[in-house]
Amino acid sequence: MTDVQRIDSRLADTALMVAVCRAIASVRGTHDIDDPYSAAFVSASGVPYWTAFLESGEALLAQSTDFAIKARAMLGHVVARTRFIDRFIEDSIGDSARQLVILGAGFDTRAERLELLDGKAVYEVDIEPVTRFKSSALESAQFDGAHKPILIGADLAGDWLPRLVEAGWDATVPTVWVAEGLLGYLHGPEQEALLLTIAEHSPEGSTALFEYAATISSDTEVQTDNPPMEQFSSDADAALPDLTTLIHVEPRTAPDDFLGRCGWRNEVAAGTEVYTHWFDETDIQVRAAALSPQFDTRFIVSRK
Ligand SMILES: C[S@@+](CC[C@H](N)C(=O)[O-])C[C@H]1O[C@@H](n2cnc3c(N)ncnc32)[C@H](O)[C@@H]1O
Repeated sequence: MTDVQRIDSRLADTALMVAVCRAIASVRGTHDIDDPYSAAFVSASGVPYWTAFLESGEALLAQSTDFAIKARAMLGHVVARTRFIDRFIEDSIGDSARQLVILGAGFDTRAERLELLDGKAVYEVDIEPVTRFKSSALESAQFDGAHKPILIGADLAGDWLPRLVEAGWDATVPTVWVAEGLLGYLHGPEQEALLLTIAEHSPEGSTALFEYAATISSDTEVQTDNPPMEQFSSDADAALPDLTTLIHVEPRTAPDDFLGRCGWRNEVAAGTEVYTHWFDETDIQVRAAALSPQFDTRFIVSRK
């Protein structure tokens, strides 16, 4: 994939981190996830620590270091949330909701992986460097024949809706919205502006899924020996970047509260419930790490 334009963006690192987890889980073949495209994106990125992690990740995760335990806990959460959200999309997309918008899509591979999305419009919004790279990667041989998303480079902390409309999104058609691993990178008021845009521009019959980490709200008391979001911090041996500083821990209204006030109906699933249902971890230490407050998330399904 030498013709692919390389990416250089710290936010893109967060997307590559998740893609590496999906790629390693797929190679291990034991996690009911089959995602060949994540590995293709990571390889094409040319970012040395992620490509190296893709190569050596399996061996690193087999160690009994704190880093390996934490990384396996995170991998389990990524697999569980991927499967849970896949099912949410399968249940939500249909004759009336014919369009899917993935916010902060990164290297989400659902457009390529999920057969039921064939023939449906899948819009993916992310920052320009990510969508530019993804667009060039999707032209390469690995993605030949795969259903491709419509990519929109826009800042979700700004005025992104006109870009979505320009790309063909139809405000009169019920939409399925997904925001997975995004909200922590937005400030509280930016998160509220994003939710308001969705609430005001979605017709009846629209559905949204927000993954919300309790640790991004400074209103939440998280009892832990480690600082919030420490699971993403660097490890000298693995030479991974420290992505903690990109996350904004500050007061914010939870998406279900905000959308509830806008008249949407919410169902909330605890991250622990999603993890234990969709991921089968037999190692006691890894499971304990995965169920610790550091990974305290909620999955909010909102319907208009
Ligand atoms: C942790 S990654 C998750 C990617 C993907 N949803 C997944 O789970 O594989 C967060 C993504 O949000 C994007 N993002 C963060 N802040 C953004 C912003 N202000 N505008 C657009 N995208 C943003 C990043 O570029 C990155 O792709």
